[in-house]
Amino acid sequence: MIIAVDGTLASGKGTIARGLAAHFGLPHLDTGALYRAVAVAVLSAGDDPADEALAEHAAKTLDPANIDQHAIRTAAAGAAASVVAAQPRVRQALFELQRRFAEQEGGAILDGRDIGTVVCPDADVKLFIDADPQVRAERRWRELVASGDEIQLEEIERQLAERDKRDASRETAPLMRADDAILLDTTHLSIDATLAEAVRIVKNKTGATPGS
Ligand code: C5P
Repeated sequence: MIIAVDGTLASGKGTIARGLAAHFGLPHLDTGALYRAVAVAVLSAGDDPADEALAEHAAKTLDPANIDQHAIRTAAAGAAASVVAAQPRVRQALFELQRRFAEQEGGAILDGRDIGTVVCPDADVKLFIDADPQVRAERRWRELVASGDEIQLEEIERQLAERDKRDASRETAPLMRADDAILLDTTHLSIDATLAEAVRIVKNKTGATPGS
């Protein structure tokens, strides 16, 4: 069983994907972490994330098992990730890796922006997660502050609007809901309620049971 979880920034898609993975006993890939790791590799070499050849090299040499989970979670890494993610050669390099993960025996859950449309158009269940932009900005701000990033809420609101726009308007694999994806709006839902709803959708579509 392949489950594709796409959605906007700070919509709750990562939490939902992790929760579904634990519930159904499936391996999970956070594909945003791959783009973030490419961005961090480029930035730490002192290079420009907009340089496609350098970003492609970083994507091709990325070791997914060795991603610094702390370094990729900063606001700067997120902003640079959406720049490298707009480059077709970077997307191509990361596509193979994501496809291999999806095709493993027993199935998998992947979350990102183009899983249901490009990486796994054949997924058994496709969810598209969204929430009101103000609610998303506040969520992301709280996460960043909790991890020690001293950033203002206004700055997050600005970055979120910019990244939403860049992710949705890029030519290659723009963020969009697949025709057959089920929309889950988390604006007024708690984490538990959101996850319960996602589990219900997966069960309804596939008949899957916990750990199956
Ligand atoms: O989800 P997260 O905020 O970690 O993703 C960081 C960036 O990576 C996104 O803003 C988006 O530009 C890019 N991304 C993507 N395709 C994916 C996952 C993430 O373009 N499948």
